Amino acid sequence: MQDPSAFTLSGRDLIGIEGLSAGEITGLLDLAEEFVELNRQIEKKRTTLRGRTQINLFFEASTRTQSSFEIAGKRLGADVMNMSVASSSVKKGETLIDTAITLNAMHPDILVVRHHASGAVALLARKVDCCVVNAGDGAHEHPTQALLDALTIRRNKGRIQGLTVAICGDVLHSRVARSNIALLNTMGAKVRVVAPSTLLPSGVESLGVEVFRTMEAGLEGADIVMMLRLQRERMAGSFIPSVKEYFHYFGLDEAKLRYAAPDALVMHPGPMNRGVEIDSAIADGAQSLIREQVEMGVAVRMAVLDSLARKLPNA
Ligand code: NCD
Repeated sequence: MQDPSAFTLSGRDLIGIEGLSAGEITGLLDLAEEFVELNRQIEKKRTTLRGRTQINLFFEASTRTQSSFEIAGKRLGADVMNMSVASSSVKKGETLIDTAITLNAMHPDILVVRHHASGAVALLARKVDCCVVNAGDGAHEHPTQALLDALTIRRNKGRIQGLTVAICGDVLHSRVARSNIALLNTMGAKVRVVAPSTLLPSGVESLGVEVFRTMEAGLEGADIVMMLRLQRERMAGSFIPSVKEYFHYFGLDEAKLRYAAPDALVMHPGPMNRGVEIDSAIADGAQSLIREQVEMGVAVRMAVLDSLARKLPNA
């Protein structure tokens, strides 16, 4: 067997799950397992990124993803700088490309980017010399979220292949859903999406999923129930009659969870809207993996940074 700690991604950047092979995904997950162990020790530092500069460039609000990338970079020894748009020249009208070129001139080694427009991170990656990691672009991709979800699933179920995963809620606006669909299909899981028609992208079947419009049918026998946040900040207009009605039909509560397999596990990428897409008792209940997902997030981001670092110039 290959040494997990020598794993290297084939590309310079990580823009999406699309394009990663099953071998690359497994390589990242195996490497992340080593960081899960490291992160539980008192001494958590490695030196892979010593002397390197990592800039977290966030054009959209974030708590867990940004802090997770910051901790990951610091544990690997990088100098990490956080730049959020509220305090940057973007507020003064600078374009994305000018921002990128300005930052590039400071010779960062790694740029971690979140942007509200789909495709913005790939565009920026073409303009800079360093390696770029997508921390979420519009409704397109959020690769490290799908990887941390996969790690969480694999640790709890022992495998991904053959599992039935129901992704429920606001699929239309969700980059988490898109990255998860790509990853789970590549790894041989059976993927379902469960949502009202207004929250499903047209032609969603072509992504390789089975579509359900009721929770009762969609959760039937599912091994993993993955809930999505109702992304109201992305909605121009009305997609649901009311929050109360949405919860009634699509919110995960005990009665609906009973349709899933008896040992089904519940996930949510956060931030959660309790009482909107998920009942508090379920979010905090015995079947919930939500807190473990956050822990896996740091390990997975360390694995991504570590594997990309091996390809940096002079590495
Ligand atoms: C997700 C995101 O930003 O896409 N959250 C996250 O990264 N923790 C999901 C969401 O915002 O609902």
